Amino acid sequence: MQKIDLNGKTILVTGAAGFIGANLTTELLTRYPNIKVVGLDVMNDYYDPALKDYRLSEIEKINDGRFTFVKGNLADKELITNLFKTHNFNVVVNLAAQAGVRYSIDHPDVYIESNIIGFYNILEACRHNPVEHLVYASSSSVYGGNKKVPFSTEDKVDNPVSLYAATKKSNELLAHSYSKLYNIPSTGLRFFTVYGPAGRPDMFYYSATQRLLKGETISIFNYGNCKRDFTYIDDIVEGVIRVMGGAPDKLTGEDGLPIPPYAIYNIGGGTPENLLDYINTLQEELVRAGVLPEDYDFDAHKELVGMQPGDVPVTYADSEALERDYGFTPKIGIREGLRKFAEWYKEYYQV
Ligand SMILES: NC(=O)c1ccc[n+]([C@@H]2O[C@H](COP(=O)([O-])OP(=O)(O)OC[C@H]3O[C@@H](n4cnc5c(N)ncnc54)[C@H](O)[C@@H]3O)[C@@H](O)[C@H]2O)c1
Repeated sequence: MQKIDLNGKTILVTGAAGFIGANLTTELLTRYPNIKVVGLDVMNDYYDPALKDYRLSEIEKINDGRFTFVKGNLADKELITNLFKTHNFNVVVNLAAQAGVRYSIDHPDVYIESNIIGFYNILEACRHNPVEHLVYASSSSVYGGNKKVPFSTEDKVDNPVSLYAATKKSNELLAHSYSKLYNIPSTGLRFFTVYGPAGRPDMFYYSATQRLLKGETISIFNYGNCKRDFTYIDDIVEGVIRVMGGAPDKLTGEDGLPIPPYAIYNIGGGTPENLLDYINTLQEELVRAGVLPEDYDFDAHKELVGMQPGDVPVTYADSEALERDYGFTPKIGIREGLRKFAEWYKEYYQV
């Protein structure tokens, strides 16, 4: 592995106003006094853009001139080309994407634009402006209906069950070809259900909180028989930073041609939680934080329903490779994580 000292480097974080991108940017600026971060984001309204403004304002609080924000679209090739030429990035972290499994059913175009064309533009830019490491977000959704648990990066993942998953798997394939052809060190990270303060309102814990507050009913899919490897945001950020600092080696094969400096890792909690336990913990923490009253009738606001198209019943990460190569395994449990979310929610929405 090629070690990279991130301090003193110039980093591109795409999706910097997004949930993971904003947390990563904050941690990079805080941890490395000489790092520079350029953050790109199109600020779309897939969910409340005020949350993206809020995240950027949190970054600005610690910005001493080392963070530059660029509003723009990954699919704009000219913009991406110029950005790379101007900044000579050492490390690129591509987190910008159209996320969400269900949304991809009604809005396929934007997935192709952001996740396929956008990612292609990043690859082309890395080809013409060599970087030390390209790290990019893949997703646990590439495992589709994989029956074997835990999910290993050695498993065959050729059966995506949503367009979102297909675009993420395509990213891995495109990255492999660019790593092979142009010797670009690349690492794809399959994240498993990330949650935390100022997270994504389209995700279950967040939307359930909003619905419960409005007195609406929450739907519990697959009659609660879902298991999810929930990963707290701080664990994801730590995992991404460790991976950024260690790029796959550039080696030459017996045929004299480069062996692609290419890797894929899971980043997931490693202890899948039953959806019903997760919901019970969320309820308890919402009451504890004062978001919902102690006498809230949760049973009256829950409805057990079947599976939704594109959903998978179990996600469960085999995190051994990350531990082996980067000495890290996510460790924050759902009690601690949901407590931080509930406390943040109380303060942010002043409920
Ligand atoms: N949060 C999770 O549970 C999870 C799980 C698996 C994978 N991922 C992946 O991790 C990455 C980050 O996810 P997140 O949860 O922070 O999502 P997010 O939606 O909060 O962040 C993504 C950001 O990218 C921006 N963006 C979208 N299309 C863009 C484009 N064409 N050009 C520029 N910016 C664009 C959005 O405005 C958004 O701010 C995504 O690639 C996502 O697919 C997330």
